Amino acid sequence: MLAAEEGAPEWAATPADAIFDPQQWSRHAAAVPAERGRGATWFVGDDARAWVLRHYCRGGFVARFLVDRYLWTGEDRVRAFAEWRLLERLWRRGVPVPRPIAARYRRRGPFYRCDLITVRIEDARPLSERLTDGVAPPALWSALGAAIARLHREGVDHADLNAHNVLVDGGGRISFIDFDRGRVRADGRWTMRNLRRLRRSLSKIGAARSVREFDAGWRELLRAYAAARAAAPPPDG
Ligand SMILES: Nc1ncnc2c1ncn2[C@@H]1O[C@H](COP(=O)(O)OP(=O)(O)O)[C@@H](O)[C@H]1O
Ligand SMILES: [Mg+2]
Repeated sequence: MLAAEEGAPEWAATPADAIFDPQQWSRHAAAVPAERGRGATWFVGDDARAWVLRHYCRGGFVARFLVDRYLWTGEDRVRAFAEWRLLERLWRRGVPVPRPIAARYRRRGPFYRCDLITVRIEDARPLSERLTDGVAPPALWSALGAAIARLHREGVDHADLNAHNVLVDGGGRISFIDFDRGRVRADGRWTMRNLRRLRRSLSKIGAARSVREFDAGWRELLRAYAAARAAAPPPDG
């Protein structure tokens, strides 16, 4: 398991593992399923903390028989560990992502299962919801463009940049979540692929009342993206 910096709750019987068990949380505090995902994400917490617990599940066709099992190819390649490392790096560099708390895996035969705990982003909703309940102001489109540029200036290819994996808080601030299979790369065509993926997702959920409005919003996003990408690169650290 990777470090749980903020300390395990006192009730943890088997200290490290209990924090990954939603039932343990609900016995002592709160554990609420996050309804928007694949059904394996929980909001857990008590007076002192508000965390998100995610059990990694497979998508697509293999989900039918592998469900939550991944082929073991070494500790370094554990999905939750890779995401933990990427989040830790980004969080330290001031990129708007949740701070990672802990990650673990359980190995069995040629497979493993894994989980990740992150800090819950307060007062935030997925962009997919924010956009369907009204008109997105230009400021939201440009904040989105600038935030994606920040991610890309760090060289981070988000493998699944859709409107469900972008959170917006009450003040219109953007955060990115769900970095499974995300990675740091040299600049390349993947940046455009990230943008295209998001555009498809936004148009699918009907992010504007008309095509014209959508196009105007998207142009605003691209303008802000280009401006922020041209900004000085962040210092190494
Ligand atoms: N750090 C976080 N803060 C607040 N909400 C979160 C956070 N992480 C996940 N969520 C919520 O849980 C949902 C599912 O999480 P996600 O990590 O995207 O898993 P998956 O897409 O694999 O189900 C998100 O759409 C979001 O609503
Ligand atoms: Mg997701």
